[in-house]
Amino acid sequence: MDMLRTRVAQRTRRVTLTVLAAAATVALTAGAASAAEVEVLHYWTSGGEAKSAQVLKQMLEKKGDTWKDFAVAGGGGENAMTALKTRVISGNPPAAAQIKGPAIQQWGDEGVLVSIDDVAHADNWDKVLPTQISSIMKYKGQYVAAPVNVHRVNWLWINADALKKVNAQPPATWDDFFKTADALQKAGITPVAIGGQSWQEAETFETVALGVGGAAFYKKAFVQLDPATLKSPTMIKALETFKKIKPYTDKGQTGRDWNMATGMVIAGKAAMQFMGDWAKGEFTVANKTPGQDYLCVPGPGTQDAYTFNVDSFAFFKVKSAEVEKGQKDLAGLLMSPEFQEIFNLNKGSIPVRQGMDLAKFDECAKKSAADFKNAQVKGTLVPSWAHDMVIKPAVEGAFYDVIGEYWNSDSETAQQAADKLAAASKTN
Ligand code: GAL
Repeated sequence: MDMLRTRVAQRTRRVTLTVLAAAATVALTAGAASAAEVEVLHYWTSGGEAKSAQVLKQMLEKKGDTWKDFAVAGGGGENAMTALKTRVISGNPPAAAQIKGPAIQQWGDEGVLVSIDDVAHADNWDKVLPTQISSIMKYKGQYVAAPVNVHRVNWLWINADALKKVNAQPPATWDDFFKTADALQKAGITPVAIGGQSWQEAETFETVALGVGGAAFYKKAFVQLDPATLKSPTMIKALETFKKIKPYTDKGQTGRDWNMATGMVIAGKAAMQFMGDWAKGEFTVANKTPGQDYLCVPGPGTQDAYTFNVDSFAFFKVKSAEVEKGQKDLAGLLMSPEFQEIFNLNKGSIPVRQGMDLAKFDECAKKSAADFKNAQVKGTLVPSWAHDMVIKPAVEGAFYDVIGEYWNSDSETAQQAADKLAAASKTN
């Protein structure tokens, strides 16, 4: 009996163990089952960008999900958007994609986005996000995208040694800028580093137009697309000032990626670059210190204004319940204070989540946050048109072409380019 009992006991124990083992396997597989593979399309491939994307991957995996990387190289994201269209049309969208501004509405109109409203409301996004930004993340009143940062676009990055060599101060006006550029050129230093790609030329022009015309002009031209303003004498002046920069750039610019141009300023091969603060991510990766090795100043004439560019991830309808859970994990993570801090320390931007402690951030980031608030109050906070924040992609692309042609033409006049801008504003 005992033996039987023992045997029974043993069997019971075996049965219990089997049941336990089975339960464990179920749990494991269930656990494993709930560990979703979240495929994320993005275009963060430069040094600072890739490091920031790595932060996201690691934090998502800490939540038990698997990050499936879908990185498409090409600053500004044009290649990534082409890849995304192919995937969506073939009925196999990624779980999430780096999509910004009005493009979110267009994908919403296609009926392919999924709501993350539950995640947003559980974390009070309407309270912790500036209204200019929360509204961009919603489709028909529901959150379908999560923002990760606020990039300032109207920056000028300066190699501190180069400036010292010509005994100059960071230029506050366009007159100062061209005087400094002249001195740098005489000293044998390439004054301005730029990459010959239409989005980079458009972005440089965007900052010039803001500096020459001011925020009210910028809004009429690039937010309201007012034809008279697009052809106005102020626009002519902005286009002429933009073109006046060209002789201070180098011959090797064609096709150059933005981070290679930043690399020229880091290495002292060039003195200045007009670029959003994703450029700062490259200085950070190169262990350069702001205020010492390099300076971050608003573009000439734009001190009181702020051009914002917000990176966001939109979520696509998927067939798998696990992936849906993974999407909600990712959405919650993107707006979490922990992620907002570590991601933006790497990326060069500032947290989009308001009320964050910026103690760990450097002087450029602190200035960005203070100027953002100042511009909000003064009404000089404007969306970056060159970075997909306000005009629909078709018009943005047409503007890229106009500005690119004008920059690369030896004969086109500013008046001709302005007329083309007004015509391009009607692109469907
Ligand atoms: C912007 C994007 C930034 C940065 C930049 C260069 O459009 O919002 O995060 O990556 O392109 O690729």
